[in-house]
Amino acid sequence: MMMKREDDGSTRRPLVEMSGVSLTYGEGSDGLLALQGVDLNIRQGEFVALVGPSGCGKSTMLKLVSGLRQAKTGAVVVAGREVDRPLKFVGMAFQSPALLPWRNILSNVMLPLEIVEPHCRTFKKDLAANVERARALFRQVGLKEVEKRYPWQLSGGMQQRASLCRSLIHEPKLLLLDEPFGALDAFTREDLWDTLKALWKAQGFTVVLVTHDLAEATYLADTVHVFSQRPGRIIHSRSIPAECRRTRDDRYTALFAEEVASLREFVGHAQEEH
Ligand SMILES: Nc1ncnc2c1ncn2[C@@H]1O[C@H](COP(=O)(O)OP(=O)(O)O)[C@@H](O)[C@H]1O
Ligand SMILES: [Mg+2]
Repeated sequence: MMMKREDDGSTRRPLVEMSGVSLTYGEGSDGLLALQGVDLNIRQGEFVALVGPSGCGKSTMLKLVSGLRQAKTGAVVVAGREVDRPLKFVGMAFQSPALLPWRNILSNVMLPLEIVEPHCRTFKKDLAANVERARALFRQVGLKEVEKRYPWQLSGGMQQRASLCRSLIHEPKLLLLDEPFGALDAFTREDLWDTLKALWKAQGFTVVLVTHDLAEATYLADTVHVFSQRPGRIIHSRSIPAECRRTRDDRYTALFAEEVASLREFVGHAQEEH
């Protein structure tokens, strides 16, 4: 039963390990220090939210983790390897769904399978299985009878559901979300919280969610990290109690309100610095 013990996750190395990470945009005296001295570990399967003032480096964090940018100092290690190029086992979604207008929803969602190694090599051969995979995701996010439609024929909420499917179609270990619900109305946004939560519970990937919305962070994340003003560093990390995160009714409890208020206080401190 040795295997079992090793497999329970507690002894496993974190999926993401950042230590002493700084990043500067540009060179020399024109350089802009975006992040300074960031230390962050993310467990396999953890749901992490990053919050903080605008411009503090949250999107930059996602670029570092995904390998779109390299740290100037410090180390970013994902799945045990130093990140020195864009990672393939990452899915990303942004505030704008960024679907291609000339492709229908099905072929938008399958796009990563067409272009990302190793899937692209067998895309045509595996077409039937790929279509099935997309349809399974459509069912999970509640997208019905849309696969032949074009993005502009769907509401913003449906487009964002499709964007989530596209980010997950290649079964990434790590899902990076940059304010994905920021442009949606409140009802649609809250529905999508539950959609994302259900996907995460069913599939067990690791999530890093950047958000301005402290209720969103509290409802979804195991752990919330609050960043300072630029140059961003983590000024507070908080484990969110499970009682805040089971069902939507949990959002109307005193405990939930206290958690959001505590986060707001730390974000407030971050904004007052300078
Ligand atoms: N490509 C870039 N070139 C120069 N400066 C950038 C670039 N991307 C972001 N920045 C600057 O770096 C800082 C952090 O940006 P960002 O990570 O986008 O912040 P956030 O997502 O928290 O709003 C900001 O001051 C921003 O203007
Ligand atoms: Mg940003």
